[in-house]
Formats: sequence, structure tokens, C-alpha cells
Amino acid sequence: MTISAGAPVVVGVDGSTVGLDAVRVAAREAAQRRRPLRVVHAFIWPLMGVSGRPAPGAPVGGGLRHQAERYVVEAVAEAGKVAPEVPVTGAVVDGEAATVMLAASRQAALVVLGHRGLGGFAGLLIGSVTVQVTSRALCPVLVVRGEPRADGPVVVGVDGSELSRAAVGFAFEEAAYRDVPLVAVHAWRYPTPLGSGDFVPLTYDVDAYGDEVGRVLAESVAGYAERYPQVAVRHRPVRGTAAHALTEESKSAQLMVVGAHGRGALGGLVLGSVSHAVLHHAHAPLAVIRQAAGRP
Ligand SMILES: Nc1ncnc2c1ncn2[C@@H]1O[C@H](COP(=O)(O)OP(=O)(O)OP(=O)(O)O)[C@@H](O)[C@H]1O
Ligand SMILES: [Mg+2]
Repeated sequence: MTISAGAPVVVGVDGSTVGLDAVRVAAREAAQRRRPLRVVHAFIWPLMGVSGRPAPGAPVGGGLRHQAERYVVEAVAEAGKVAPEVPVTGAVVDGEAATVMLAASRQAALVVLGHRGLGGFAGLLIGSVTVQVTSRALCPVLVVRGEPRADGPVVVGVDGSELSRAAVGFAFEEAAYRDVPLVAVHAWRYPTPLGSGDFVPLTYDVDAYGDEVGRVLAESVAGYAERYPQVAVRHRPVRGTAAHALTEESKSAQLMVVGAHGRGALGGLVLGSVSHAVLHHAHAPLAVIRQAAGRP
């Protein structure tokens, strides 16, 4: 998918403080990308036959629809404080939240959501809207948790797959915007096939395989490193599971980037196990990339 030049950054709000954290991040992203920002609140009540307008005799400004409009007004004002130069629009859109945000992802350059919202239960790590949108969006999705740290590198997970190349491209772009280094992590435990028909040895030399991992990392970043010479890149091969390695790296990162699925893609509609684990457990904001990129 190609993203059109005027495509906005879209942020979903639900009146929660996490949603407002997402607005601030989205406003900064829009400023960096020189794109407009669109604030969306999905309003589910008409789907249930409830208009949400104030009942006769109720206070002016009461009712669910006015409340929904206030969420959007508050979010637009917050965006204006963070990035006054960014053109911002806001809308209450009738519909279920994930459906509305997925539809918005068709025309968006980036969708930004909080990791949680107003609902859910105390121990819930990721809200249902965020899980559905990161699983099926048609553009990159940035999941925000709290006010992100301003220090630390951008970290990208690399596995040699198409989507991880796209993730590397997104991560370079972000590292350049933010003027910070990029750390490319490739976790490995034993040789795995890179493509169909690849031969995987039954016994192998650990050091030689470690060198091979280094080659995958170098190849994954090579073209982008030429395009973004200002970004310092560190290659980090890690022996262990990818989910654990990336979660650990996220502790010191200001942004984590992964492809939606890796080499074990099943159908392409859902999140791979590593992306799923990192979505739930990363300590930094997480960008999930679903579209393959052309080579740089
Ligand atoms: N009605 C909505 N309209 C637009 N965006 C929404 C809406 N509801 C949630 N979001 C976005 O999704 C993020 C996560 O909210 P989500 O609803 O997934 O979690 P939750 O409310 O904690 O749990 P639950 O799955 O029980 O609703 C919010 O921070 C916000 O960015
Ligand atoms: Mg919710």
C-alpha cells in the first residue's frame, strides 16, 4: 500500500488519560511528518438504537453525544498545545471503535492509540480496540503507554522477513526525526530457514551461525543506512527468544518497532507471536508495521 501525500496521522480518543497521551504523541508525529492530524472518537450508541442526544428537559449540553463531542474538543485542544503548527480536525464518528479506526487506517499515514482506554479491568495489559486495530490496520499503528521517555534509542526487531524490512524503514525514519541512534535486534536460538526450500543443518557451529546472524542484520539495514547516514546504527544479535530480547531492549528505548508478523506468517491477518508478546509486554511505545515496503 502506498500512503498518499496528504494522508493524516489519525488518533483514537475515548476520554481516557491514556487516549490523551496518544494525542500528544500523535501531534508530535504529525509535526515531524508534516501531515495533518485527525482526532476520532467512535460513538457506539446509535448502533444500539440510542441517539445519545439529551432527553427532553435534561440540561443543555447533557447526554452521551455531547460528552463524546467534549472528548474530541479536549483532544484537539491538547494537540494544539503540543504542536500548534499542525492542522487538526476532530470528529465523532458513529460506529464501533475498532471498525471506525480500521476504516480510518485506509486513508491514514499512521494510526495512534493508547494501550488502554476507559474500559477493561485493572490487570488488562492491552485494550480490545488496540488489539484489533494493530492486528488488521492498513497502515502502521503506534501504541502509546503513558508519556514516553525522551531519551534512549529507537529499537527495531529484525528477522530477515519482508515485514521486518518495512519495520526497519519505519524505524530509520523515526530515529532520524528524533535524532537518536537506532538499535537493530536479531534474536536467535538455532538455525531457522529464511525462505522456503532453505536447508537447515542438524548440527551447526554456533560461532559460524552467529556470524550468519550478523549478516542478516547487516543486510536488513544496509540500504536504509545509506539513505539515513545521519542515524547511528547499532547491530545487536542476541542469543535467546525474540519476545524476551525485544521486551528487555524496550526498557531503555523511546520507541520500539516490529513487523506485525515475521517469517512464520499465517494468513497475514493476525499478529505473529513475537509482535503479540511485545504488544502486551513492551515498556516503550510500540509501532506495529503491517505492510511490506519496497527496497530502499
Ligand atoms: N470509542 C473510541 N473511539 C476512538 N478510539 C478509541 C475508542 N475506544 C478506545 N479507543 C482507542 O483505543 C485505545 C485503547 O482502548 P481500548 O478500548 O482498547 O482499551 P480499554 O478501554 O482499556 O479496554 P476494553 O477493551 O475493555 O474497551 C484508547 O486509548 C484509544 O486510543
Ligand atoms: Mg475501551
